[in-house]
Amino acid sequence: MVYANGAFVPEGDAKVSVYDRCYLYGDGIFEGVAVWQSAPFRLDAHLDRMFAGLQFLQIGNPLARSEWHGRIAELIRRNEMDDGYLRIQISRGEGMSSIKWEPRLLRKAEPNVFIIPVPGFASYYGALHQRKQEEGYRATMMSRPRIASAAIPSSMKHCNYLNSVIGAMQVTASKCDIGIATDTDGFVTEGIAYNVFIVRNGRVLTPPTTRDILPGITREVIIEIARKAGREVAEADFDAYTLMTADEVFICSTLEIAVPIVEIDGRKIGDGRPGPVTKEISRLLYEEMSREARAYASRRAAE
Ligand SMILES: Cc1ncc(COP(=O)(O)O)c(C=O)c1O
Repeated sequence: MVYANGAFVPEGDAKVSVYDRCYLYGDGIFEGVAVWQSAPFRLDAHLDRMFAGLQFLQIGNPLARSEWHGRIAELIRRNEMDDGYLRIQISRGEGMSSIKWEPRLLRKAEPNVFIIPVPGFASYYGALHQRKQEEGYRATMMSRPRIASAAIPSSMKHCNYLNSVIGAMQVTASKCDIGIATDTDGFVTEGIAYNVFIVRNGRVLTPPTTRDILPGITREVIIEIARKAGREVAEADFDAYTLMTADEVFICSTLEIAVPIVEIDGRKIGDGRPGPVTKEISRLLYEEMSREARAYASRRAAE
């Protein structure tokens, strides 16, 4: 079942108009929220990022925070989701009279709002699910830089992902699993849909949010839990050479959780196997997700 503009409908009935602004211009905001043990993980942080993007694009937020919570809880319940991914998709509305965006010029001035569930991380990834934790991913460096924040603010999870799609084509052509991008100054930014961490001499480093990256919720949680576990974590600029000669590299996102990178453009990272810090952080992340899921369940039971 999909949440579509106020109703819960079978996925075949969840449709948008050809005049949808997101379809015509990529004029919208999206979010991806992890579901773990039937609880949405860090939902408020995802909503904060989404609300900021909507505010910047001057798209009216269609629901109050408590209503978002309610709709998402209901969608998890209706789909009997244990784990998986929820994709929230909000477009400005409908109209194609030109790029003009003002509500009075649109055919439909209210946003089109969908929440699309993808139940089951394991079934989504199939055989890759097990392999990525045990063996890690092979990466390639993207030949194109990320879109500069000066052009489109990277802090927004906006619906213009062609830079990532073109990156994904390069990943396929190079027979790798993932792609990592720099900016035009040569500093590492992020992957095509995930943030990047390295481990050097016991220190955990990740590019700062000023490097054209999406400030990932998983990235934020990893910084928090690694520090709590006594690790030194810093947001720091580093180039592709520093990345490729790191002791460990891993990527993270709502969909991927945390995955070791064992090779970049043919160069082994460390000994070419998932490293101990990455494994520890991945374990801490799952523990945090389970802890929050228990807290979520007891809050809902008390309601
Ligand atoms: C470009 C990009 N960077 C980073 C991330 C990771 O963000 P999060 O941890 O909030 O899923 C994503 C998630 O889809 C992304 O698209």
